[in-house]
Amino acid sequence: MKIALQTPRLSLRPFVGADQGDLAELFADEAVRQHLAMAPMGRKGAAAFADRFITAAREEWREGDCGALALRLHEEGTTAGSINGSVIGYCGLRLLPDRISAVELLYALGQSHWGHGLATEAAEAVLAWGFSNLGVREILAFTRPDHTASRRVMEKLGMISGGETDRYYGETLAQYSISRGRHKDLNN
Ligand SMILES: CC(C)(COP(=O)(O)OP(=O)(O)OC[C@H]1O[C@@H](n2cnc3c(N)ncnc32)[C@H](O)[C@@H]1OP(=O)(O)O)[C@@H](O)C(=O)NCCC(=O)NCCS
Repeated sequence: MKIALQTPRLSLRPFVGADQGDLAELFADEAVRQHLAMAPMGRKGAAAFADRFITAAREEWREGDCGALALRLHEEGTTAGSINGSVIGYCGLRLLPDRISAVELLYALGQSHWGHGLATEAAEAVLAWGFSNLGVREILAFTRPDHTASRRVMEKLGMISGGETDRYYGETLAQYSISRGRHKDLNN
């Protein structure tokens, strides 16, 4: 599927092989990795992980009509380091591991871009795209219970806390969701 989304500050598009270096930098940062349940890894490990991530994202798009999208700041972006068009993170929708329940929202940004509202901005565009283009009734999101910043993003998106669950990822995670109806109400 050809998809390209624009927000006031960001462009979102499917990953290409050339994004591997930027993505490897993201995964090489322990501050990012610790929230993504990723094992410690050096630069080589992060590069290999980035390769696998891009391959998996492409497969997700082929098989499930959704997946991770690469985030890039517009040239005139307001955040430091915004002028080189590099990939600063990802955001997207992915089928849950059981592949039947629903889709979940994903996001991660390089540390230098945290705290500017960019994850929320990207996720707003992705949720709107998801409800317009996928036949889903609701979109879920998960995070470690103590990950306050991620929980705050979910709350700012209008997602509602559904308590904690260990159903999908073998660890207890806070679960949030937003229904198609609630999304419509909040965005009208
Ligand atoms: C979580 C993450 C995506 C947030 O990105 P971001 O662009 O900084 O998010 P936003 O600026 O849109 O919103 C963050 C909110 O959390 C708040 N916040 C950040 N750190 C916080 C903390 N330690 N305690 C309380 N609130 C916090 C911010 O103030 C902001 O809320 P506000 O707008 O009401 O002030 C980013 O930190 C990240 O990529 N982390 C690593 C990967 C990751 O954790 N992915 C999610 C896995 S579930």
